[in-house]
Amino acid sequence: MTTLADTRREYEHDSLSKNQLNENPFTQMQQWLEQAQKANLKDATVMTLATAGKDGMPDARIVMLKQFDESSFCWYNSYASRKGQQISENPQACLLFYWREFEQQVRIQGKVEKLSAEEADEYFHSRPLGSQFSAAASQQSHPISSRKALQDRVDQLIQDNPDAVSKPDDWGGYRLTPVTFEFWQGRASRLHDRFTYTLDEAGKWVITRLQP
Ligand SMILES: Cc1cc2nc3c(=O)[nH]c(=O)nc-3n(C[C@H](O)[C@H](O)[C@H](O)COP(=O)(O)O)c2cc1C
Repeated sequence: MTTLADTRREYEHDSLSKNQLNENPFTQMQQWLEQAQKANLKDATVMTLATAGKDGMPDARIVMLKQFDESSFCWYNSYASRKGQQISENPQACLLFYWREFEQQVRIQGKVEKLSAEEADEYFHSRPLGSQFSAAASQQSHPISSRKALQDRVDQLIQDNPDAVSKPDDWGGYRLTPVTFEFWQGRASRLHDRFTYTLDEAGKWVITRLQP
């Protein structure tokens, strides 16, 4: 087996220049996301969500992007989870997308706020019923004695009402409003293309090339 030190590949799929980039980072993001979706990439819409609570210890996990518009990125989870606790202490986060086949990475930093209970309710009930029961039975990120104890909770909910389940009060969505974006395109010999978008004082996005 190849050693870790000797594991590498070249990134030669594409290049990125400033004049190719859309002046609006949301439009640029939409183009890259659509490219990944059209190629039917597995997990094209998952992103790593990085947070840090009041202790400052960085943490990260994958979540699914569920809405995306001209101003924000949204996902759903339990507010009582570890990430929920961290976001309540420090409502800032970083989202990271990586599309391996296109050798592209997007990094987005921003401010986080809760979606409304109505939005959460609508999305919760749009999910397959099995996922709704699982979300209702699980106190996300909290310890449980066994798999059986978890399954028993699901079974109890199904027994109570097999056709419907209420959204738990502490289950809902977050919206991240970006303050910076970075688009990364892998290039040969590690001379990658990187561009950040930051907001100037007038609220206009400014594009800057970074060294790889
Ligand atoms: C592909 C994939 C998609 C996931 N999507 C979500 C999601 O949309 N929401 C969520 O709460 N957890 C999702 N998870 C699970 C999280 O990575 C994580 O285990 C969970 O949210 C608990 O994180 P926490 O303890 O940091 O709060 C996903 C995991 C994977 C691998």
